[in-house]
Amino acid sequence: MKTLQIRRPDDWHLHLRDGAVLEGVIGDTSRHFARAIIMPNLVPPVVTTADAAAYRTRIMAALPKGHRFEPLMTLYLTEHTNPDDVEEGKKSGLITAVKLYPAGATTNSHGGVRDFEKAMPVLERMAKIGLPLCVHGEVTTPEVDIFDREAVFIETVLDPLRKRLPELKVTMEHVTTSDGIDYIKSSKANLAGTITTHHLIINRNDILVGGIRPHYYCLPVAKRESHRLALRAAATSGDHRFFLGTDSAPHVDPLKECACGCAGIYTSVNTMSCLAHVFEQDNALDKLEAFASLNGPAWYGLQPNAEMITLEKQDAQVEFPAKRDTGAGAVTVFDPGFQIFWNVVD
Ligand code: DOR
Ligand code: ZN
Repeated sequence: MKTLQIRRPDDWHLHLRDGAVLEGVIGDTSRHFARAIIMPNLVPPVVTTADAAAYRTRIMAALPKGHRFEPLMTLYLTEHTNPDDVEEGKKSGLITAVKLYPAGATTNSHGGVRDFEKAMPVLERMAKIGLPLCVHGEVTTPEVDIFDREAVFIETVLDPLRKRLPELKVTMEHVTTSDGIDYIKSSKANLAGTITTHHLIINRNDILVGGIRPHYYCLPVAKRESHRLALRAAATSGDHRFFLGTDSAPHVDPLKECACGCAGIYTSVNTMSCLAHVFEQDNALDKLEAFASLNGPAWYGLQPNAEMITLEKQDAQVEFPAKRDTGAGAVTVFDPGFQIFWNVVD
């Protein structure tokens, strides 16, 4: 039997939702992860520091007894976000980052940014005070093919923004293309990227060949195999600019299994087991700790967690629940398409 000890991991991109779904899913994250960057795309979104404080209180109230977990709160950037409120949020220690959704890019993003000029005063303030911007890096222009949206975003939005505000720290979230990986690698400072568990495992064939698989649909949508391989190489390289953000995004099954299904894959339950499998396949188990537990805290100026976790490769296949029941309905758990033998044992 093989075992691996690593620092307790963190999730640098997580959707917890609210109410009954929050209550149903939070334990899957807090069982393994010490901290997570919490996405603000609720309905209505978390736009002010006061909204974030109230949401944090609801998250802590939903935490299972005996679990310790630190939600790192974010604000949803709008064209009306007040720079003073953002600065207060950072000073108080509540706000770890601000999230940019181009309007219409994904779930509950219609209140996001259309005219980037209007967001400049906040972005300038963030550059000044050292508050990172987390970016959903896709353009929403209808003429741009959905598989090209990340590359076009880098060229037409992100690179010009970073040239204008080189001091702004930008986390490019859920990178899905070799263009994103190359862009991050080409930057000398103030740019890092998160990679999800599922984008290391599935490509677009998995979504579309032999029937449409709604539980593999997320945004940014998985790309062709060459891109998946570029993500794998970056994640398993140990490069400090790449770290785990699961983008675990629960939607109850009826919202995914319908004529116009929601984007989002629920991976919190088995992420660490899937990652151990992936890193072992690529002969990179020694880099898993950097990806899941060290590079993220270093980027956000935090200490890594002091506690360790142990992963064990068992002889028998590890069984995970196919669904997580919540008070709002069942949420399907990510099926990696391979048998899992690794498990977190403590
Ligand atoms: O697949 C996704 N689901 N991508 C996102 O950007 C948002 C998320 C959600 O909130 O469901
Ligand atoms: Zn997300």
